[in-house]
Amino acid sequence: MRSLLSLLLVSLLIGLAACNPVDEDTTGDSSENQHGRKPAFDNGTATLDRPVKLGFNLELKGGAATFGISAKAGAELALDEINAAGGLLGQPVEAVFEDNQSMAQPSANVANKLISSDLVDVLIGAVGSSQSIAMAKVAEDKGVPMVTPASTNPTVTLNDDGSVRKYVFRTCFTDDFQGEGIVDFAVNGPIHAKKAVIFYDAENDYSVGIWETVKRVAPDFGLEIVAEDAFLKTSESDFRAKLNKFKAHEFDVLIVPAYYTEVGMIANQAREVGLEQPLLGGDGFDSPELYQVAGENIVGSYFTNHYAADDMDPAVQDFIRSYKERNGGKVPDAMAILTYDAVKVVAQAITTAGSVDHDAVAAALADTKNFKGAAGTITIDAKHNTTKKLVVLEIGEGGQQHWVYTYDPLAGETEAPAAEAEMTDEQAAGAETIDEAITGDETADETADETMEEAEPEAEAVEENGDGGSGAGDA
Ligand code: PHE
Repeated sequence: MRSLLSLLLVSLLIGLAACNPVDEDTTGDSSENQHGRKPAFDNGTATLDRPVKLGFNLELKGGAATFGISAKAGAELALDEINAAGGLLGQPVEAVFEDNQSMAQPSANVANKLISSDLVDVLIGAVGSSQSIAMAKVAEDKGVPMVTPASTNPTVTLNDDGSVRKYVFRTCFTDDFQGEGIVDFAVNGPIHAKKAVIFYDAENDYSVGIWETVKRVAPDFGLEIVAEDAFLKTSESDFRAKLNKFKAHEFDVLIVPAYYTEVGMIANQAREVGLEQPLLGGDGFDSPELYQVAGENIVGSYFTNHYAADDMDPAVQDFIRSYKERNGGKVPDAMAILTYDAVKVVAQAITTAGSVDHDAVAAALADTKNFKGAAGTITIDAKHNTTKKLVVLEIGEGGQQHWVYTYDPLAGETEAPAAEAEMTDEQAAGAETIDEAITGDETADETADETMEEAEPEAEAVEENGDGGSGAGDA
């Protein structure tokens, strides 16, 4: 009994340590912890004579700012846990967070700075594919391992000649797969589409990549692309003339593989010109700002994503619980959970390598197999990619997201809507308003009138709520 009690006490202390807020720019300060005491790192077993240093290149400002802000929060949770458990190689792990302004060239500059002046051991980021492509060139050139938690464009891990970059890895699926998932869902999901229109961002590698895949695989699924057009995010904000032209066609779904800032404007203007079809996009929709900008105009639309907050898998729910504790009750989006997992994969690789030697860590990363992440199992393949299931989320009333569909190559087939999602709906009969439960924010959107029970494990619906980043209109 007594040993059980002390065990409980120890886990409580570890839990508390995991919740400590961290400094804005670094985590795991090497000399002192929050209470001014030296952490238990220098216990004689250290195999490194200095802290391990991770360099994060993220979209903290600009048109994709909520991506980077969430990624940082996910990273900080992972770093807290790693440091509370004794760090890596007997040393604390420090983090340097840099902003790439959601643009490619600044992202290359950030990568250079993290390598040359911060002397980081491993690079983590970026979120947006265009930023990661620019960053990957630098990482490969300098021979520093890089892991992108979220960039899905296939070329991120490849050199210009198509060979695999030795130092660049991703812990998420690619857009060859995501584009296929979009088409599969359009045809076999609740839209039952036969005809589609695509409207994509010609300045975004992610968007262009999905457009290419959708066009390539649509015939295999029996989906006819009846019209397509492109926009330029840095110079266009009035899409009405282009959207208006789509009205000359009959179609069932408007596929918009773009980021939330542009998607929000497009949703508003599509409704304005009288288009009533649902929008369908990829993970770039995943931001609280989308619903803030588009409101009702985005309700009933769908997007593919890396995780669903109403997935009752205990690994997902445990992560959500820890994240909410550390982030004022806010439900994590995909970037948060993906970056949390990416940091853990990097930590495992450093441990396996037994050093921070760049080649040894890159080799250990390449060898990653069956790593049990919060958002699924990660195995890095020969092209330095990961194969994971894809979920489709519907944006419901009040911006709540519901998991409605799964595309899972590992299961070898497309599944019907997840049983878990149905369970959530059945449980949606409790007393607590979702806004408050999720955001801890009493001023959250009043239109969310659904309620749910606080059960164990928690059934959650996701709110596209209001406290995201500052990215809207900035692209
Ligand atoms: N997959 C997107 C890209 O490559 C980035 C992203 C990931 C956005 C996850 C949202 C969620 O550009």
